[in-house]
Amino acid sequence: MIGTLARIARQLVADGKGLLAIDESNPTCNRRFAALGIAQTEDARRAWRELIITAPGLGDAIGGVILYDETIRQSDRNRVGFLDLLAKAGIVAGIKVDAGTTDLPRCPGEKVTEGLDRLRQRLATYAAMGARFAKWRAVFTISAQGPSEGCIMANAHTLARYAALAQEAGLVPVIEPEVLMAGPHTIGRCAAVTQTVLRAVFAQACEQGVILEGMVLKTAMILPGTDCPVQDGLEEVTTATLTTLRRAVPAAVPAVVFLSGGQGATLASARLNDISRRALDARAEHALPWPLSFSFARAIQQPALEIWRGRDDHAAAAQAMLVHRARCNRAARQGQYRPDMELAP
Ligand code: 13P
Repeated sequence: MIGTLARIARQLVADGKGLLAIDESNPTCNRRFAALGIAQTEDARRAWRELIITAPGLGDAIGGVILYDETIRQSDRNRVGFLDLLAKAGIVAGIKVDAGTTDLPRCPGEKVTEGLDRLRQRLATYAAMGARFAKWRAVFTISAQGPSEGCIMANAHTLARYAALAQEAGLVPVIEPEVLMAGPHTIGRCAAVTQTVLRAVFAQACEQGVILEGMVLKTAMILPGTDCPVQDGLEEVTTATLTTLRRAVPAAVPAVVFLSGGQGATLASARLNDISRRALDARAEHALPWPLSFSFARAIQQPALEIWRGRDDHAAAAQAMLVHRARCNRAARQGQYRPDMELAP
């Protein structure tokens, strides 16, 4: 079991590839559609996910795709199941299993992620359908005082409970504690909060018997808040990100992947590239114990969604943009992304 989980975890980020998240809940997907005038229907969501999954060449840059409960059951227009299409493209299927966030009582403005009820049964169902990994996201807001100890502990414990259940079902848990970008905080505060959150998550993971060799950590890059007057450059972001991860992520973890978190698509690629280049250039004594890659949703999907806008006659151009962004991030993950790649999508 440990060997299988570890093999799947490594496979997700092998050959310079990363993950693509298309696991937006229906309300989130609908919100993104509404902003572009796209119909907010089940068939529109199905058509968008079909466009993504059938994009020619997607499997060159993407090792795993994270699906949503509605999506994992859907098929293309010829009634070929999405899971079959992914298998044919050599892409491992994953599934988001959290049930979203709710207000944490007595902690104003803070959230806890729900979904543990009946999770064992749901995981078994997804594993039988063919999913090989799972994802659960918790969110932490940086405020003057927060995140609170209560919020950190509640979410760290829940992430660990989920991860142990996922491994029991034979699924690799992607553990996603997302420290949100919103706010006026500095990059230093983001680093301190992220370090505290990650340490709590790994302490709880160990308490719950999670096998570190059979999981993937999905984290945000260390960035200044979106309203911080000082917007640090690539060098500072890279230093803060690598320092924080080195201090908080055990060497036994087989892969660390970044979410995009609302950064612009090209900026996310540029930052991933800088982080990767520094990591790859490090002398042996500073080499990272885990491969770094990406697990983006918006930074891969959004430019393509803006082309598609629900129109069949835009589908090919949208697919080309989607695969372009995936390939840019594959290059970035290897420190080989150059801004001039953006000239020829
Ligand atoms: P973004 O890359 O849009 O942040 O999404 C990643 C994700 O999967 C959030 O759970």
